[in-house]
This record gives sequence, C-alpha cells and structure tokens, in this order.
Amino acid sequence: MNKIEKQIVMRKTVLITGCSSGFGKLAVKKFNKKGWNVIATMRSPEKETELIRLDNVIVEKLDVTDVDTIQSAVKNGISKFGTIDVLVNNAGYGGYGLFEQYSDREIRSMYETNVFGPMNVMHEVLPIMREQKGGTIVNIASLVGVFATPNAAVYSSTKFAFKGLSEAMALELKPLNIKVHTVCPGGFETNFNMAANINFQKGDDRLVKHAEALASSLDEARKNFSQPGMPKPNSQEVADLIYQCATEEMPVHNMAGADAKWIEQLRSSMPDQEFLDKMGEMLLPPSK
Ligand SMILES: NC(=O)c1ccc[n+]([C@@H]2O[C@H](COP(=O)([O-])OP(=O)(O)OC[C@H]3O[C@@H](n4cnc5c(N)ncnc54)[C@H](OP(=O)(O)O)[C@@H]3O)[C@@H](O)[C@H]2O)c1
Repeated sequence: MNKIEKQIVMRKTVLITGCSSGFGKLAVKKFNKKGWNVIATMRSPEKETELIRLDNVIVEKLDVTDVDTIQSAVKNGISKFGTIDVLVNNAGYGGYGLFEQYSDREIRSMYETNVFGPMNVMHEVLPIMREQKGGTIVNIASLVGVFATPNAAVYSSTKFAFKGLSEAMALELKPLNIKVHTVCPGGFETNFNMAANINFQKGDDRLVKHAEALASSLDEARKNFSQPGMPKPNSQEVADLIYQCATEEMPVHNMAGADAKWIEQLRSSMPDQEFLDKMGEMLLPPSK
C-alpha cells in the first residue's frame, strides 16, 4: 500500500443516499470538509457536476428501490475506501393530498422509496458493520413522523414507519456497537416540494373541495408554527446535525429546525389527546 492509499484507508468513510440535491448534497460537502471519504450516491450520477470535483468523494449510482445498484455502489465504495463507517439514509420524497386521493400504486411507490428503500440499503451495509464490529446509521425521518400531518397522511405514515424501525434497530444493534439515530427535520427549502406527489385535485368535487379547504387552513396555521424569534430554516442545520449524529454521543431521535423542536416539545408537554385536540383546533377548517 502506498502513502496515498494508506491515507485513504485511515480516513473514515460515509455512504449517503439521495445526494443530487438538498440535505444529501449538503451532507456530502460537510463530511468532505471534515476530511472523510464519501460515497455520494444518487439515481443519476451522470448529471452531477459539483460533487465529482471533490477529493475523496466518489459519486455512485444508487436507486434505493433497485438492489443491484445498491450492491454495486457498496462494492465500489468498499473497493475504493476499504470500509463503510457511517450510512446516511437520506433519499426520500413527500406528497400532499388526502389519504383517499392516493391510489394503491402511489402509496406503494412512496413506501418503496421511503421505507423499503432504506431497508434495502441497510440489508447490504449491516453485514459490513457487524464484520468491522461497529458503525453508525443516520436515518432522515421527519417532523411528520412525530406529528402526522393532515393532507400528508401517506407521507407521514412512511416517516412514522421509518422512525419506528430506527428506534427498534437502535436498541437491537446497541450490543453490537452499531448506533442508529434519526434526524427529523421540520420544513426546509430544498427540492422537496418540487419533487412531491401532489394529489389535491383527485377524486370527486366534494373530496377536492375538502382537500383544498384543508390545505388553505393548514397554510394559514403554518404561520403560527413560526413563533416570534424563531430562526429562519437553513438546510445546513440538517447537514450539521447529520454530521453530529455520526461523530458525537447523540440521542436516538433528533429534531431539526425550530418548528420541529416546538411541536415535539408541545407534544411531550401534555397528554396525547390534549395535544391532538389542540392541533385540530389550530390546523383544521371549521366543520360544516
Ligand atoms: N425538506 C424538508 O422540509 C424535509 C422535511 C422533513 C424530512 N425531509 C426528508 O429529507 C430527505 C431529503 O429530502 P430533501 O429535503 O433534501 O429533498 P430533495 O432535495 O428533493 O432530495 C431528495 C433526494 O432523494 C433522492 N431520491 C428520491 N427517490 C430516490 C430513490 N428511489 N433512490 C435514490 N434517491 C432517491 C432525490 O434524487 P433525484 O434527484 O434522483 O430525484 C434527491 O437526491 C427526504 O427523506 C425527505 O423526506 C425533508
């Protein structure tokens, strides 16, 4: 092994999914700046122009719904860097609309990416972490995995599932020296809304009217989510928190953003039904 190869092996290595934009791309830059090897993965690596220029970063094709691409990205990462110390399951997408406005195909598709996708990735990476007797997994869940939001029931349910999976895994893997954390962001400006599956216009007139009334009531109420003095959301906060989870002693679940911290604090400060009643009063249009 020559000097440069030795340096590569001595650095820690992270594999991150969904690095074409948003939190994933910022996380690649954060780890890179801190001197890590990064396996930056995305569905369309041929489109990437920025990350390919960074030292100690390899850009690999990985679609979380396609096991062949996961295996190949993991194999190429290991052959370049020797190990995977940290896995960040970041890839995912959202969607808005009433539960009834989602087809079975749309629901399954969202679960394929947001739940079964990271399960696929963890199935490939966990044997490596067990073999090396340690590692850290950081799963990007959401505020909607803490409080399930109306008009985003399907998306919320994927993030509740992912958060629950992570919680159990944190306990079952602790004796094996593998840590599992979630990062649960509130609202941040990334490509998220552009990529979201929007279903407000589906179904009969009454359903569409209900979805629209709910959406405008939620928009109005969201203004209350920004309490006076709350800092404006900055996506770098999420990337920094991901890095913290990878490198410091952190709780299993970690909220990101003032709105998410506020809702979590509110929920834990009162009985569950009182919290749900309060959210109903705050978010819903008047009953007809
Ligand atoms: N932004 C928010 O307010 C917010 C709040 C809470 C949680 N989150 C979560 O944060 C994570 C990152 O989202 P973001 O806000 O950074 O949005 P984003 O900019 O849209 O990034 C999402 C990333 O996931 C990738 N992706 C989607 N489906 C994929 C698949 N099947 N396989 C691999 N990659 C896939 C996208 O790749 P393509 O470019 O190929 O589509 C993109 O790189 C998501 O899990 C999201 O649910 C976001």
